[in-house]
Amino acid sequence: MLVHFVTDEPAKIPAIRAVLGSRFYVVPQLLGAGDTEIGSSGALMVDADLRQIVRVEQIRIVLQELSSITEKLFVVRNNVSSMVAQAYALGATAVLSRPKEIVVKLQQIEVANKAAQTGLSDTAPETINSAAAFASMFAAVRNGQSIRLADAEYATSQIINGIAQAGLTAWIDDVRRHHEGTFQHCLLVTGVAIGFAIDIGFSELDIKRLGIAATLHDIGKAHIPLSILDKPGSLDPSEQEIIRHHPALGYELLKDSPGISPEILDAVKHHHEYLDGTGYPDSLMAPEISDLVRLLTISDIFAALIESRSYRPAMPGQNAYKILCDMDGKLERSLVRAFRNVAHMT
Ligand SMILES: [Fe+2]
Ligand SMILES: [Fe+2]
Repeated sequence: MLVHFVTDEPAKIPAIRAVLGSRFYVVPQLLGAGDTEIGSSGALMVDADLRQIVRVEQIRIVLQELSSITEKLFVVRNNVSSMVAQAYALGATAVLSRPKEIVVKLQQIEVANKAAQTGLSDTAPETINSAAAFASMFAAVRNGQSIRLADAEYATSQIINGIAQAGLTAWIDDVRRHHEGTFQHCLLVTGVAIGFAIDIGFSELDIKRLGIAATLHDIGKAHIPLSILDKPGSLDPSEQEIIRHHPALGYELLKDSPGISPEILDAVKHHHEYLDGTGYPDSLMAPEISDLVRLLTISDIFAALIESRSYRPAMPGQNAYKILCDMDGKLERSLVRAFRNVAHMT
């Protein structure tokens, strides 16, 4: 479950992550540090000094932006009575003082949310959760912070669960209906890559490897202006040149991040390379292009073709597959052939 954690101290973010463990996915929001992350599900947790008027005002604004989240937990250490009263005045649904209490309360909320979601929501929780993880990664880059591998792993695991439960076709429909632009693209590429890996019988570990590579493949786009990324219609040559920097930008962003393996870095940097040497940024030839990259490139091109945009309808999967088949010499023929099943699921 997502926990939107609102605080006034950066050090409280790793501390709460340590308390909540892997069961809850923390989306942090530092008071006074800019926009609120997207959020429409999960729980909201506030841990800040409520004796400061400026903090109270900042919290009020964040609560307005996240008003669709019903559960609002406030952490008040030692139950300081003036802060407890302020928490309820701000709309707290519960005030807690100890980590153990917080975990128990969140577990209760999670059970209640799951029961409420059954049959009511038309968006799978995995779609919402994975989109939140993408939002967290892109926001980190734009704010000059480093990317956490845990975000990419979480997004990947949610997409694997979503596809395992509903199938690739339903996943793609859900993503197209609820997300736009770069997030839609990243969610679709990862879904298609995972669907491909499952279809060709990859091990769980290899499904995750390809999923993580897909999750991170376009992270360099976080440094490309939205006016170019979301431009309706085709790009002019100077805009194309800017876009072509995104694989190298992504590599630079990730190369010093702990836990990112060389094969993931290679996939991020080289997912626009072609076997015949006509790709970018390094004009690699076939022997220099790994299997992981070959699988990712096919998934990326296909997902880009079937994206739905406000200014053009989504291309049917069969038509997109025909385009892949016509890219002879650029993509590995045997893999394109193996991709046929996946293409026909869309
Ligand atoms: Fe890309
Ligand atoms: Fe891409």
